[in-house]
Amino acid sequence: MKKKKDIITVAIDSPAAAGAGTQAKLISKYYKLFYLDTGKIYRYIGKLKLDNKKEFNYNFIKKKIRNIKLAYLKNKSLLSNEVAVSASEISKDKNIRNIVHKFQQKYAYNPPKKFKGSVLDGRDIITVQVKDAMFKFFITASLNVRAKRRFAEYQKLNKKMTYNEVFKSLKNRDKSDRNRKYGPLKKTKDSILINTTKLSKKACFKKIRAIMDKKLNN
Ligand code: C5P
Repeated sequence: MKKKKDIITVAIDSPAAAGAGTQAKLISKYYKLFYLDTGKIYRYIGKLKLDNKKEFNYNFIKKKIRNIKLAYLKNKSLLSNEVAVSASEISKDKNIRNIVHKFQQKYAYNPPKKFKGSVLDGRDIITVQVKDAMFKFFITASLNVRAKRRFAEYQKLNKKMTYNEVFKSLKNRDKSDRNRKYGPLKKTKDSILINTTKLSKKACFKKIRAIMDKKLNN
């Protein structure tokens, strides 16, 4: 794939609800980068499976991905736990991962003109998708804190789940995402660990900004 030269590339991997999306959005705004939440694409396919049990096959997915509108990835219907669980299931499939990779790498290496680069977050961004990223962050937090944050988000969205259910679902998803054969979540040696367990969003971003500014201003 042709790669646009002189762009800033930021790759972030993280388990669910660790705050990676929040930091990615802050990074994208501050540095004028295109942001792609790759989990949303797996969620989109996970939802396709739930809604189209009969037609669901690789060609169906390819066609849908080809015609996907980026704005749809912000749709609230992708935020449910049911869709997240389905996403985690379909994302184990190597062929599905390959379909998604092309789409993601296009945006990572050739972001729309008005942006100075790209920031992608997910599970395999550093390990597979944007291995040569200029910045690599592994963002994590304790399971307890992540479950609390996700539970609060679900409450705001009026989703009827107890804290224990949220905790269990995240724990299962962690296990599946970390132990799967293709594109498992793991921290590489060359990525910078950001633990958000005891950090506010602001404090976290300050840390990231210090790291990025140091390199960019050199
Ligand atoms: O990040 P989010 O929780 O929205 O992702 C939903 C699911 O999509 C994850 O649990 C994971 O199984 C899958 N995913 C993935 N690779 C990525 C991003 C997400 O397999 N790069």
